[in-house]
Amino acid sequence: MATDQVSSPAPPATSPTRALLDQVAETADAFLGALGDRPVWTPAGYDEMLAALGGPLPDGPSDPAEVVADLARRADRGLTATPSGRFFGFVIGGVHPAALGADWLTSVWDQNAGLTALAPASAACEAVAAGWLLDLLGLPATASVGFVTGGMQANFTCLAAARHDVLARAGWDVERRGLVGAPPVRVIAGADHHDTIDLALRYLGLGTDALVEVPTDDQGRIDVDALTDTLNAGAGPTIVCLQAGEVHTGAFDALAAASDLAHHRGAWVHVDGAFGLWAGAAGDPAIRALSAGADRANSWATDGHKTLNVPYDCGFAIVRDRVTHRATFGVHGDYLISSDGGDPLELVPEFSRRARGFPVWAVLRSLGRQGVADLVDGLCRNARRLADGVAAIPGASVLNDVDFTQVLLAFGDDDTTREVSRRVLTDGTAVLTPSTWRGQAVLRCSVSNWSTTADDIDRTVAALARIVGDVGGTGDGVRPT
Ligand SMILES: Cc1ncc(COP(=O)(O)O)c(C=O)c1O
Repeated sequence: MATDQVSSPAPPATSPTRALLDQVAETADAFLGALGDRPVWTPAGYDEMLAALGGPLPDGPSDPAEVVADLARRADRGLTATPSGRFFGFVIGGVHPAALGADWLTSVWDQNAGLTALAPASAACEAVAAGWLLDLLGLPATASVGFVTGGMQANFTCLAAARHDVLARAGWDVERRGLVGAPPVRVIAGADHHDTIDLALRYLGLGTDALVEVPTDDQGRIDVDALTDTLNAGAGPTIVCLQAGEVHTGAFDALAAASDLAHHRGAWVHVDGAFGLWAGAAGDPAIRALSAGADRANSWATDGHKTLNVPYDCGFAIVRDRVTHRATFGVHGDYLISSDGGDPLELVPEFSRRARGFPVWAVLRSLGRQGVADLVDGLCRNARRLADGVAAIPGASVLNDVDFTQVLLAFGDDDTTREVSRRVLTDGTAVLTPSTWRGQAVLRCSVSNWSTTADDIDRTVAALARIVGDVGGTGDGVRPT
């Protein structure tokens, strides 16, 4: 009804879940606010968590807000502070605020990202963010990008496209005919390739026996001469997997030379750059040079939840040739509303999935080109600072060339290194995780968190010095050997 009276604006509508959302914001704020103080490694193990969270399924309903508050209380001691600036384990990024906010909205909006018509905002975010990603990483602007759960799924997706292409060129339609009776596919990779390449080959039905390993140097880089010999020793459909960023050392294969060799023999070149592909976005030319030649590949796997600091889970499967990418994962359903320009579900193994483009778009838009460059440069600078600090601890050694974000440490003999590794986790100041490199016990460090400060690094080095001293029992960090 029209009226001449000026009415005051209606109060903004709130949802029935408003109180719950406020409560969650408070809980989240408390967690983030205390991140610097809580032990970085989880204080409680699985058994304590089972006891805390277990019990029979309730017969009836409970208030959602109470349940969520209860979950936060019960789970707290079983949470590892992976978003902490002093978490250096495995290869795990933190959570950039823009990505965090957008990720919350992703759950609220609950879009199914598979179809453009159903989720146009999501599809547009993915398309725009994909363009930004390709630009930042120095990859061909016409490549297509599938938003997947992480590096593993990105490797699988890219290698599925590779399988399609090398078999199609051998006259075999693998999507229609399967692998029974297909020409054998050779997959060549450096001996220090990531384990998810093997897993991808299992998923793909190629099997790990299809893998021919090429020797690597002391940093884990593929031996290019040996790659030549391996390529020459066989024929037929061939996929070469190169690596940008070895998980222990951070080393990069000679991507330009190795790609050229492989292409010369008709092979598909895939680059696993879960964290290392981001070298291409660095500001420092020396860091950018590490991934030089990456643009020559046919496909690339990289992560959002590592260097880009998007919350779990987020990865990118990038394929140079859109037609091949679509031919591998394209699907038809009469009940779907397909879009002429294509649908995101044609680029990934999933049908329905989370709208991962929102947090990616948000973090890239928030950081901008300079912010991403500063992020990558800062991670490398912090890795160098940590390596220099640890190198000054008596009895400690840095085993790798710290050119990127990974630092590989040892503290005398294997028993001492293992004991230091164990105590690092219980100490709680920082997290670095144990591994074995070339048969030697090591402590791995991956600097992947946007929020890590020089003070975080110095506190970590001080904690390591203290722990090494305690383990050595000499008070000066040296264990008599
Ligand atoms: C080189 C490399 N490839 C693949 C992966 C697997 O990535 P995600 O854990 O995201 O699946 C990793 C994980 O650290 C990695 O370092």
